[in-house]
Amino acid sequence: MSRTSTPPVSMEIASLIAAAKAVRAHAHAPYSKYFVGAALLTRSGRIYVGCNVENASYGATICAERNAIAQMVAAGERHPIACVVVTQGPTPGSPCGMCRQVLAEFAADMPVVLVAAQEGEADVLEQTSLATLFPSGFRPENLEGAALVNASGAPPRGPSRAPRRRAP
Ligand code: THU
Repeated sequence: MSRTSTPPVSMEIASLIAAAKAVRAHAHAPYSKYFVGAALLTRSGRIYVGCNVENASYGATICAERNAIAQMVAAGERHPIACVVVTQGPTPGSPCGMCRQVLAEFAADMPVVLVAAQEGEADVLEQTSLATLFPSGFRPENLEGAALVNASGAPPRGPSRAPRRRAP
């Protein structure tokens, strides 16, 4: 992971940062006041964005990254190749566990750039990857064996149960 406040980023990442900053302005975060914008670049070269949408029933809140994934899927795409998340404060916020899981549904790995937007100063950037943020995650491939075993819909027969211990 490398952190820098002087961003040596590619044109693609610069476009993603601009898109994530723009959508962050639409975040609905009246409770936490923590505004997040996310942008995904897909294999087709298109960009999909999402912001956090909070709810008075706090648990119903949706994070920016998952909203960006939803936009991508709704547009008929499935292959993100880079992700940018823009947050506030002195250091960039990192995607929550649920967002890491949802990102990993569509990419085993991809560059992830975390940006802490600064007022009137250079942004603070942290360049990492999904594989670094989410190693050994549960992936769609993990279900492949289950699909074969459970084709009948019946639960697989496990090894026979250990004999019950008699009460002393
Ligand atoms: N949030 C995101 O949008 N993405 C994350 O990965 C972490 C948290 C949002 C959810 C909530 O609206 C606010 O940040 C504070 O948790």
